[in-house]
Amino acid sequence: MKKIVVGLAVMLGFCTCAHQPSGTLDVNKTLDYCAEQTQRTLAELKTDSGIDYTMMPRNIMADEQHWNCRKATKEEWCAGFWPGVLWYDYEYTKDKKIREEAEKFTNSLEFLSKTPAFDHDLGFLVFCSYGNGYRLTKNPVYKQVILDTADTLATLFNPTVGTILSWPREVKPRNWPHNTIMDNMINLEMLFWAAKNGGNPYLYDVAVAHADKTMKCQFRPDYTSYHVAVYDTITGNLIKGVTHQGYADSTMWARGQAWAIYGYTVVYRETKDPKYLDFAQKVTDVYLERLPEDKVPYWDFSAPGIPDAPRDASAAAVVASALLELSTYLPNGTGKRYKDAAIEILTSLNSDSYQSGQSKPSFLLHSVGHWPNHSEIDASIIYADYYYIEALLRLKRLQEGHGVLG
Ligand code: GLY
Repeated sequence: MKKIVVGLAVMLGFCTCAHQPSGTLDVNKTLDYCAEQTQRTLAELKTDSGIDYTMMPRNIMADEQHWNCRKATKEEWCAGFWPGVLWYDYEYTKDKKIREEAEKFTNSLEFLSKTPAFDHDLGFLVFCSYGNGYRLTKNPVYKQVILDTADTLATLFNPTVGTILSWPREVKPRNWPHNTIMDNMINLEMLFWAAKNGGNPYLYDVAVAHADKTMKCQFRPDYTSYHVAVYDTITGNLIKGVTHQGYADSTMWARGQAWAIYGYTVVYRETKDPKYLDFAQKVTDVYLERLPEDKVPYWDFSAPGIPDAPRDASAAAVVASALLELSTYLPNGTGKRYKDAAIEILTSLNSDSYQSGQSKPSFLLHSVGHWPNHSEIDASIIYADYYYIEALLRLKRLQEGHGVLG
């Protein structure tokens, strides 16, 4: 296979500091590494009675060496990422055994298409698993699962507010009559897909309304985002912007901003309305301008203890993947700046500082799940691995002259 070596000469544009990540990024070599780690994970999931396909790798804490798995239930928002990792690994390796494993883990999520919505995470759950599965296999059963789940997700849409209710469970305990979290932007992709693949065209309108209201209400004047927007269900007006997983209501939670960058890039892809392209750049620029030297953010841009605060490799991986796509929608100069930024991020994640290597079977170290809850601090987390391998495949396609999305 042709080796793709990207020199660090491409690292220009956003860094005003002296330090830059060292090393080179060999995309195929890094994808080989991901394939090896995937085999290690599968090996450790095997028991005497075989693999329990309903148990999904979720995290490996800083002081642990093995995956903690969680049952694929409607409450486990991360259950689609491991099947998604397997689909991406299959896409790269073309290994039929990996495809079989991807199919079996994916099938454990079918119930989501047949049960009422628990919350907004249905896109993460079903589009990362079934979405990639359908993209690669065109299995009609997968298509129906996605279409049915998209309809289920749309039941959470409130037309008075104009957004999806992200967390029905938080309405009463928090007195958040209608709440929308930035993460919800990622789940719009499944609605767009369903609307153009035989589903209800109304799903497109839901996604656009959600993106518009979020753009209007869930960002500060400097384009940093609130994690949670709380709305009045009678007037549809914003009551307040607050945080749930960030440091403070007024700060930029790294992964929240990453979801915004990725989300508005997808909304532009699906609508081709230039206002979203402009907005995607604005939410990106404020994120890139405030990054530390190695381009992997602290878990919150105002986290206590900076420069010793934990990093969030998951946010870095999400942004790298998004910027590779965003770069393709822009003229050469601007597009190249974003592509170079993505390569710079991936080069940093590719280093010994962030790769798990032999120490554990995950791809990446150093993500933060939920600091205020004291959970998954400085851990390997499955969604970091998912967006990392997605970004690597996107870069590989671009380097080989193919479309970024496959
Ligand atoms: N969607 C939850 C998170 O990003 O942690």
